[in-house]
Amino acid sequence: MNAHELRTKYIEFFKSKGHAQIQGKSLLPDNDPTVLFTTAGMHPLVTYLLGEEHPAGKRLVDYQKCIRTGDIDAVGDASHLTFFEMLGNWSLGDYFKDGAIRMSFEFLTSPQWLGIPVEKLGVTVFRGDGAVPRDEESAAVWKALGIPENRIAYLPREDNWWGPAGTTGPCGPDSEMFYYTGDAPCGPDCKPGCSCGRWLEIWNDVFMQYNKKADGSYETLARKCVDTGMGIERTVTILNGKASVYDTEIFAAIREAVERAAAYTYGGDPVKDRSVRIVCDHVRSSTFILGDPKAVSPSNVGAGYVLRRLIRRAVRHGRKLGITGDALSPIAQVVVEQFSGPYPELKENLKYIIEELDKEEQKFRETLEKGEREFEKLLPNLLKDPRKIMSGRLAFKLYDTYGFPIELTEELAVEQGMTVNRKEFDEAFRKHQELSRTQGAGTFKGGLVDHGEIATKYHTATHLLHKALRMVLGDHVAQKGSNITAERMRFDFSHGAPMTAEEIVRVQDIVNDIIAQDLPVTMEVMSLEAAKAAGAMALFGEKYENQVKVYTIGKSPRDFFSKEVCGGPHVEHTGTLGKFTIQKEQSSSAGVRRIRAALEP
Ligand code: SER
Repeated sequence: MNAHELRTKYIEFFKSKGHAQIQGKSLLPDNDPTVLFTTAGMHPLVTYLLGEEHPAGKRLVDYQKCIRTGDIDAVGDASHLTFFEMLGNWSLGDYFKDGAIRMSFEFLTSPQWLGIPVEKLGVTVFRGDGAVPRDEESAAVWKALGIPENRIAYLPREDNWWGPAGTTGPCGPDSEMFYYTGDAPCGPDCKPGCSCGRWLEIWNDVFMQYNKKADGSYETLARKCVDTGMGIERTVTILNGKASVYDTEIFAAIREAVERAAAYTYGGDPVKDRSVRIVCDHVRSSTFILGDPKAVSPSNVGAGYVLRRLIRRAVRHGRKLGITGDALSPIAQVVVEQFSGPYPELKENLKYIIEELDKEEQKFRETLEKGEREFEKLLPNLLKDPRKIMSGRLAFKLYDTYGFPIELTEELAVEQGMTVNRKEFDEAFRKHQELSRTQGAGTFKGGLVDHGEIATKYHTATHLLHKALRMVLGDHVAQKGSNITAERMRFDFSHGAPMTAEEIVRVQDIVNDIIAQDLPVTMEVMSLEAAKAAGAMALFGEKYENQVKVYTIGKSPRDFFSKEVCGGPHVEHTGTLGKFTIQKEQSSSAGVRRIRAALEP
């Protein structure tokens, strides 16, 4: 079974169980300052898991593109990836543990669906701790379905607790499903979850009962929910009896593109094979980030920085394979070809993907050349050292000033019969990181806000600002992005020129006037067509479900100030927002302006 068939079957199965298929969302989360990327299928659904009604109903299913970089060093082993696809089904206050586990079991084992033999499966459940008791209920359901006691592992919070996706949000105990890939256990304690490599996690049922708040406390959710996530790549791996995710059909064409560029055949040398895998993974991730409608580009902050690291790491591993010229964009083309069926945005953004990859690859090659030249300049002095040790401080200077990676300094040093004082380098690096963390902390200070009162106010202010900008600047103004923290909001919109001081004051006055009028904010669910016909604004490039929520700010559905398709939540009356101030108006990128604004009580 290939990835496409698995995706289709999953959706079909859950539709047959009364779930509505919803659209997966952007890789770059909206209005969530606590994370850089969408890390799980539940991520775009946080507000619904916290209690908002979803227009598509209480049972949902989708596939979602995700990025996780926490395990970037493990990429290239059998199962780790930075980009992956997640299949998920949700219950918003509908079925709970029993229903979720029974459906998971049926999909995994029924010959009509995946047909995995029960004896290949094992599960983990939450062991319990001071705060939450052991999950006997889940264990009992698994046993009733035929999973023997010795294939159920009771694990602590580190293993069997999921979430929140960022620092705050919905979370709870989970039950994970594993596939046994070995012949014999590694020892008497070899159970699902064992790190020996014989157990591969493929699916996770999370029982969302709590909301983790910014102060670290947990509040019980009024409505219990289920969030599940199945990794497509891992599941395809086990269904086809492959040794690693990179050996599946998902990576076949991408791998061949890397092999062509490197003139190397995969399967010969384990060290080189790992580099092939890393290039495959990182180019695929970069292609998806660049192909996202939210258009990120490589930079030194946030998501752009992660993108830059992925591209540069791919170039470095390409060099290890002997690739010297520009090689990434032809590999990216293969990724686009392969995935634009389920992700049409890739094809739409192909030109941008290629341009940005080429640009960054060239820039990095220049960095490498410059670093090499600097190293050569240092060489005569270095060679004078009888111990043949290059100081870590000097290596750090190459890194800090020219962006020259330490691994490459080490390679060059070895070629000259020298070593680098790595300890000293690591120390300098750590100090530097601590410094940037302290500086960066400012960016995330407000990030600990939950989807609480303040964020809700800013959501509503975003709609007011959007509309006011269109009134003052014209209908070409469209929202390009937004980001909310506890202290301020940021709003990106299309507009070709800096705003004049007078325009800024007018926009601010309009927003404050609507706040003063204390207009009601109301919500209706309708089809996207009906929403557009009613005059609602919808975000360009964003995917919507068939049924959408429309928020109206105004006296009545016809006599209104603003109407927008939006997931919410919003305040009930504009009067609660406080005083709105535009603090800054600046350029964001070509043709896009950025406003920072704040609400004061
Ligand atoms: N959110 C859970 C996970 O990522 C289930 O989807 O594992």
